[in-house]
Amino acid sequence: MEKIRETTEKLISGERLEKAEFAALIRANSPQLREKLAAAADEKRRTFYGSSVYIRGLIEFTNCCKNNCLYCGIRRSQVCAERYRLSEEDILACCDAGHELGFRTFVLQGGEDPYFTPERIEDLVRAIKTAHPDCAVTLSVGEQPREVYALWKAAGADRYLLRHETADKAHYEKLHPSEMSFENRMRCLHDLKSLGYQVGCGMMIGSPFQTPETLAEDLCFIQSFRPQMVGMGPFIPAAGTPFEKERAGTLEETLLLLSLVRLILPEVLLPATTALGTIDPLGREKGILAGANVVMPNLSPVSVRKKYALYDSKICTGDEAAECLRCLAARMHRIGFEIVTDRGDSKLVN
Ligand code: 5AD
Ligand code: FES
Repeated sequence: MEKIRETTEKLISGERLEKAEFAALIRANSPQLREKLAAAADEKRRTFYGSSVYIRGLIEFTNCCKNNCLYCGIRRSQVCAERYRLSEEDILACCDAGHELGFRTFVLQGGEDPYFTPERIEDLVRAIKTAHPDCAVTLSVGEQPREVYALWKAAGADRYLLRHETADKAHYEKLHPSEMSFENRMRCLHDLKSLGYQVGCGMMIGSPFQTPETLAEDLCFIQSFRPQMVGMGPFIPAAGTPFEKERAGTLEETLLLLSLVRLILPEVLLPATTALGTIDPLGREKGILAGANVVMPNLSPVSVRKKYALYDSKICTGDEAAECLRCLAARMHRIGFEIVTDRGDSKLVN
């Protein structure tokens, strides 16, 4: 008990923690500990970002994927998934509508879809940056060779999201088929950083085979890699996948991890994810109160929303972008935060 208190103080004062210390905090996870960490995380976030919450317009432009991650509802083997691709015109129309609503960051997220060649994505990035030079473009399209990341950076891409999924190699291999490798995942993240992207890594909370030790390894990785963004949400089983019968991650553990990451990297951009809003009706609000400072409303056309089903029961699949934004703005206002519409660049430099 005394040890936990000491470790907590050490973290709050900005000292680095060892893996065993992170693991002890994760194992303890009492309401009192969460409350203490959330209060400290909230204070740290306010010193950098005040009560601002940044919005990112998420465009899920293809649910076709050549990979077969065991947890994912759009994996290659999901025969029941109804596949779609948005055209360049559709995507640009989403950006235009989003820009009208005040979005200044567009996140292009998709499966690893061979139809979207490096050149097609390059064109897309150029087209968006030409139409909206005041906006940041974030790509989230998986593992690529360094040259491809460089091509997209030269076209104007600003940021890249690639969750590491787990920093424990043995755990990584239990979540992915043998044709995917932990080493390549890490290579991608290091390439992205050295190319000058603002980089987001992250992991699901409560994924199958996760332990306090693997989560502690994730935190050690985050502590040394120092990404500008960290995406974390609960694992939610997806019907038809090998993990369909597994338990979902919990609200409590996700909130604890959000606070821990905020304390490790006080300037980090930390989204309260849709997955968190899916396991609890007030999940995103609770995420913000635990230290998050980003929300990512969906700008994809309503006609395809339900098809981008990484997991079951996903929220916000029926609302127009304007609706999503109004709803989130009201939710944030109710807990004393306001949505801001600037680019919201990270204060962490590479
Ligand atoms: N539950 C929660 N998150 C998931 N993701 C993929 N499948 C699931 C699931 N079943 C997350 C992964 C991926 C991100 C785009 O979505 O972490 O990197
Ligand atoms: Fe598409 Fe994992 S299933 S990247």
